Amino acid sequence: MIADRIKNIKSSFEIDIEKINSPKQLEDIRIKYLSRNGLVAGLFEELKSVSKEEKPVLGKELNTFRTFVTEKFNSLKEKIDSNSGASEDKLDLTLPGIANEIGRKHILTQTLDEIRAIFKGMGFSVSEGPEIESDYNNFEALNFPHDHPARDMQDTFFLSKNFLLRTHTSPVQIRVMEKNEPPVRVIMPGRCYRNEAVSSRSFCMFHQVEGLYVDTDVTFSELKGTLVGFAKQFYGEDLKYRFRPSFFPFTEPSAEMDITCFLCHGKGCRVCKMSGWLEILGCGMVDPNVFKSVGYDPEKYTGYAFGMGIERIGLLKYNIPDIRIYFENDLRFLKQF
Ligand code: DAH
Repeated sequence: MIADRIKNIKSSFEIDIEKINSPKQLEDIRIKYLSRNGLVAGLFEELKSVSKEEKPVLGKELNTFRTFVTEKFNSLKEKIDSNSGASEDKLDLTLPGIANEIGRKHILTQTLDEIRAIFKGMGFSVSEGPEIESDYNNFEALNFPHDHPARDMQDTFFLSKNFLLRTHTSPVQIRVMEKNEPPVRVIMPGRCYRNEAVSSRSFCMFHQVEGLYVDTDVTFSELKGTLVGFAKQFYGEDLKYRFRPSFFPFTEPSAEMDITCFLCHGKGCRVCKMSGWLEILGCGMVDPNVFKSVGYDPEKYTGYAFGMGIERIGLLKYNIPDIRIYFENDLRFLKQF
């Protein structure tokens, strides 16, 4: 009987070990056959109850069987151990890699970087001011008197009687001049807010770059030279431009700079309202009243200032039809730059 059981267990063992290919399965086999309560130990248990005559023969057979199982098991274990180590270390260089999504700067940041680099090249440093401003810095010190109609040029988000979201970057001029004696030559980029109806051409939040140069004997032709130099570097050497008289409370005289329409190249179209020209910035010679409000001597110093909208500059350079598209975070738009 034991002889039959040995035969059966041997054949099931041979089937079982064929299937093994992991350390976990190997351990299951050890438990099933070789552990203290395993099948081989069970056979030795049965041996106790066979007759004296049979015992030596069956005992010998059983020992041979145990050796067979143990040796098979050990050689299998060796094979599996060495295999599993190898497969962990194996590195397949032909597999496709995991792509890293690379981000990029927003087109407005790229435009600002470019503007900043051009003015840095012309000797301008960079300053910034807060987006929440006093009525004094945003209007009063820039020669917008109380109840003056010029305040209506810029619809304002007031936070309280004396504080507001700045409507332009010009108040940073006041901050810079209050802290520094001339000469100052600085650009001031930043975010601005206006309480305007949102449309394809205006948004309630936008960005400007302000410029200011104050020294003795600064002239209007230096202002023109700087702005033309900037525009040619930014838009290209063959750019056509013109300066047009304008009005700003903080400059006298004031002007606006136009460039030929990117769409019709000056022939006249819907974008340029048939004029062939597009305005890109406001500028002028700093009004003596502004110098007085920051404690500069208007008899001694002259200066120029300018301000441009970054969204608008980009609209004109890249032919973007709607200002709102900058802020929608649509990757189909952002990925084009
Ligand atoms: N602050 C003006 C605006 O937002 C732009 C401007 C015009 C700035 C003329 C200037 C300047 O510094 O001289 O419309």
